Amino acid sequence: MTPVILDCDPGHDDAIAIILAAADPAIDLLAITTVAGNQTLEKTTLNARRVCTVAGIEGVPIAAGCARPLIRPLRIADDVHGASGLDGPAFPEPTVEVVDEHAVELMHRILTGHGEPVTLVPTGPLTNVALLLTRYPEDAARIREIVLMGGSAERGNVTPYAEANIYVDPEAAAIVLGSGVPITFCGLNVTHQALVTEDVVARLLGLDTELGRICADLMTFFGSTYRRLWGFAAPPLHDPVAVARVIDPTLVACVDAHVAIELHGAHTLGATVVDLHSYLGHPPNAKVALTLDRDRFWDRVIDAIARVNFPAR
Ligand code: BDR
Ligand code: CA
Repeated sequence: MTPVILDCDPGHDDAIAIILAAADPAIDLLAITTVAGNQTLEKTTLNARRVCTVAGIEGVPIAAGCARPLIRPLRIADDVHGASGLDGPAFPEPTVEVVDEHAVELMHRILTGHGEPVTLVPTGPLTNVALLLTRYPEDAARIREIVLMGGSAERGNVTPYAEANIYVDPEAAAIVLGSGVPITFCGLNVTHQALVTEDVVARLLGLDTELGRICADLMTFFGSTYRRLWGFAAPPLHDPVAVARVIDPTLVACVDAHVAIELHGAHTLGATVVDLHSYLGHPPNAKVALTLDRDRFWDRVIDAIARVNFPAR
């Protein structure tokens, strides 16, 4: 089992990433940390508690982290994820609590005490991870790798070239990329291969569990915003792709490439400049995901949702 800390901003796709990371037998989920991104920190943290409550995920500490990017104002994605950040299904009052410790301190404590390097999976803006690596630079050696959802080797989704997680806190992304920790980018170019088509929703409903129904409702809402905003026939399930890469690297094929974060572009702030063909001659500094094994990915996601302990209707 790979020890993992999931740093997220739930978010519809983050919700499924939490369930996948908690339930898949290949991952030992040590903590869930939250960051402002898709919604305010207050809402993303409440949403992490909601997801853990309905999925019966207990015993995994949840800690709230940074409420805003390092130097920029927060830009939320309520157009994509709704006013709650997790619009769609009705959630019961959450019973899973957060711990009384800042996310960065919890990450540091786990990294120093775990005994073997831990994998970080950030699926929101990189503010918490950048703060960790700035405050505790020695923790870089305690991180096996950072496998994140963010960026794109193609075009963006908040500006023509920038993807939301990197755009919201590009300075944080640059700090993380410059930290020397091995890093893998699962960007839009690969997450757009994880489309939640009707057959996937049918499989969720076919589980005949309350959690399967909630996940189907989440995906139906997510699909409605992707249809309205981007004209997609089915929504892309971004964040679980990064979790899948940790579960089994053969699910998400990567290449080595040089990546730079655009911090000064007049029109391209927050873009990940992925030099797939080594035009600039820089040595690779990251792995960049290119191809998803769709069938095995969906089997793994559905299996995780079936696996968590929630009573059948
Ligand atoms: C990323 O932004 C958020 O809307 C999603 O949760 C995902 O992490 C996609 O650009
Ligand atoms: Ca996210």
